[in-house]
Amino acid sequence: MEGFVIEGGTPLTGRVRVQGAKNAALPILAATVLAAGTYEIHDVPQLTDIDAMCRILQSLGAKVERTGHRVTVDTIGLNQTHIPDELMSRIRSSIFLMGPLLARLGKVTISRPGGCAIGKRPINLHLKGLACLGVEVAEEGDIIACSAPELKGAEITLDFPSVGATENIMMAAVCATGETVITNAAREPEIVDLAAFLNKMGARVQGAGESTIVIQGVPKVQATNHSVMPDRIVAGTLIIAAGATGGEVELDNVVPEHLESVIESLRQTGLAIETAERGLRVQAERKLTGIPHIVTTPYPGFPTDMQPQMLALLTLCEGTSRVTEKIFDSRLKHVEELKKMGAEIRLEGDTVTVHGIRRLTGAHVCATDLRAGAALVIAALNAQGRSVVAGVEHIDRGYERLDEVIAQLGGQIHRVALKKQ
Ligand code: UD1
Repeated sequence: MEGFVIEGGTPLTGRVRVQGAKNAALPILAATVLAAGTYEIHDVPQLTDIDAMCRILQSLGAKVERTGHRVTVDTIGLNQTHIPDELMSRIRSSIFLMGPLLARLGKVTISRPGGCAIGKRPINLHLKGLACLGVEVAEEGDIIACSAPELKGAEITLDFPSVGATENIMMAAVCATGETVITNAAREPEIVDLAAFLNKMGARVQGAGESTIVIQGVPKVQATNHSVMPDRIVAGTLIIAAGATGGEVELDNVVPEHLESVIESLRQTGLAIETAERGLRVQAERKLTGIPHIVTTPYPGFPTDMQPQMLALLTLCEGTSRVTEKIFDSRLKHVEELKKMGAEIRLEGDTVTVHGIRRLTGAHVCATDLRAGAALVIAALNAQGRSVVAGVEHIDRGYERLDEVIAQLGGQIHRVALKKQ
């Protein structure tokens, strides 16, 4: 087990390049299953979740080579339709392989992904959407066996704009006969990146980024190359880290429009955020003030993936702020950890009320999930004295060497081995 030891109080300053987006790279890697061929995917972040996806592709018979941020995937020999349980349990994103495997080989068997630290996370919308395309779904215990001799275009209305279900259905529909219309589709930028990748392969996907996506089935697609979009959540996390330390940071490889709702909220606190040559510049030039109420909603609303980091910042903003988590049912475990650092914070149901204090105090805290971990790092960078953030394996799922990036900006952070408790 590893942890970060952080001495708080140094303003982050300097310039860094933001990594490629995990949440775009994962479905794009899954989509390489669609057509036999060799793909070069660039700007793939080096993360444990990406390692797991590469291992799954290998277990299905693909060859995967990684050089820095380039991943070469050769799916010519891919011939397996069962995703091993051990790998399935490692990343939920393995469900992205359902759509592509059904499209390529007509079959897929997975074990049902369980709940996780942030909530129950069912997959009913994935299964319902695939069933509309003609997939037969047989469930026995935790095993889900899907088969589809032929996929047929259909009109699918999602009960909720699920990111993963939208992506899975899009991938399954690429080579289905006829037209597929997804209504109430998720609109996240990662869906637009996946659509761009699929269209480069020869698919005909229109409307990604809007609530209605139309896919005209094509008989065949082929391998292609692609560069993954920048990670908007990592960018948002670094902006907040700069803000919480009273620093000044320039971020390259950012698409400011992807962060509109986050930037709007951060400007309300008083942070100065401007577009820069290749991204954004952030400066904490004055005392920050709280925000009356932030509610997480699907894109383009305030992202659930930025809620913990925002909450960490609000513990330091003058006045009272409220944050309501509406996407996941159990994504507020960091509240207890922030309390250990002196935050004046109260949780009632899905809503957190925060009274800002001037500075947090260093403490031993534990990351329970990826973004909660990022929030605790932000809090520790602000705190007076030394903090130890345990559970770094969660952070490594989504942030490429966060400790090194922060150290590059002058933050006092070290990765250490922790004894098991
Ligand atoms: C993706 C992101 C994750 C982000 C989330 C919401 C990836 C790899 N992960 O996760 O970082 O936090 O979007 O922006 O892209 N739901 C159902 N049934 C389903 C599917 C989802 O009830 O079949 C519910 C979930 O439990 C959750 C909500 O819908 O409450 C949103 O989930 P979804 O948009 O599907 O998130 P993911 O794709 O899992």
